[in-house]
Amino acid sequence: MRDERLISPHFIGEEDHQENTTLRPLKLADYIGQSKVKDNIQVFIEAARGRAESIDHILLSGPPGLGKTTLAAIIANELGKPIRKTSGPAIERPGDLAAILTNLEPGEILFIDEIHRLNRTVEEIMYPAMEDYAIDIVIGKGPGARTLCLDLPPFTLIGATTRPGLLSSPLRDRFGINCRLDFYNTQDLLLIIERAAAIMGLSIHKQGAEEIARRARGTPRIANRLLRRVWDFALVKGDGVISAKLAKMALNSLEIDECGLDNVDRMILEALINKFGGGPVGLETLAAVVSEEGDTLSDVYEPYLIKLGLIQKTPRGRVATESAYRHMGYPVSPSWKSDLFGADTEV
Ligand code: ADE
Repeated sequence: MRDERLISPHFIGEEDHQENTTLRPLKLADYIGQSKVKDNIQVFIEAARGRAESIDHILLSGPPGLGKTTLAAIIANELGKPIRKTSGPAIERPGDLAAILTNLEPGEILFIDEIHRLNRTVEEIMYPAMEDYAIDIVIGKGPGARTLCLDLPPFTLIGATTRPGLLSSPLRDRFGINCRLDFYNTQDLLLIIERAAAIMGLSIHKQGAEEIARRARGTPRIANRLLRRVWDFALVKGDGVISAKLAKMALNSLEIDECGLDNVDRMILEALINKFGGGPVGLETLAAVVSEEGDTLSDVYEPYLIKLGLIQKTPRGRVATESAYRHMGYPVSPSWKSDLFGADTEV
């Protein structure tokens, strides 16, 4: 199912594409937030430049919309190298990957989004490519088949994934650099919104930007999308200025609450509390009740609900926390649930 929610962290339209091209920072110095990742990447870029070598393979993981693609483009830009972008599901056959790899320029960055979705036969081509800059191609079939070893130019693979746990260990082990992006804090999102507003020439008060930042689920892509929608309200219902009052009114009209939750998030919490007595409930069961795929629930909705402390994963399933009861306006959860918490094993 296509995810068209206003607070979807996925790309959903032409405007998101525009965000991609006009708002995306091109230099590491302009990239706001993720300071640990940024500092480390700065070191690796400088070291690679100093040694005149290509930078080691990099795995970027974290929830969607946090800037993995942006970071890959910045790394290529800072190194002055071209970048070729593709995705795990787009590379269907080993021959597809062989064609991409043999056409790379020396030092080129190959960016593979959703790398956890590479199929196993394609993945196996990747191992010697990453390790030795070489691939083995099988020509022909049956007893007459021959294996041809092709040398590749040195290149850097940047893999992006929302599900690092789904990567096979041989693939994961071949990345020399592993960076995990986390949700942005409100202060960083505020700066991202102010930067975007300046580029777009919008008139915005700091408190207006703060209001959007607080409700953007820690995700720059959502912050920039909400900024556009709030601007629509400012033009039609206000005087063109995004003040705190205007932003509050607009975001309330869009049914995005003070924590950034939308109707689907609230449906999840409501189902967990009301239909399943607060849990524990299995992922697929919960997903079916809110008419979503299990993968969508675990990749898109849950990370932020967990981050806010509204749900927990326990060995027996998803559980609503006390904060969830409070957020949804229910009496605080009874103490008999306390034995369910403290376990954060993924199920
Ligand atoms: N736009 C989207 N993500 C950004 C970031 N991390 N820094 C600056 N601008 C952004």
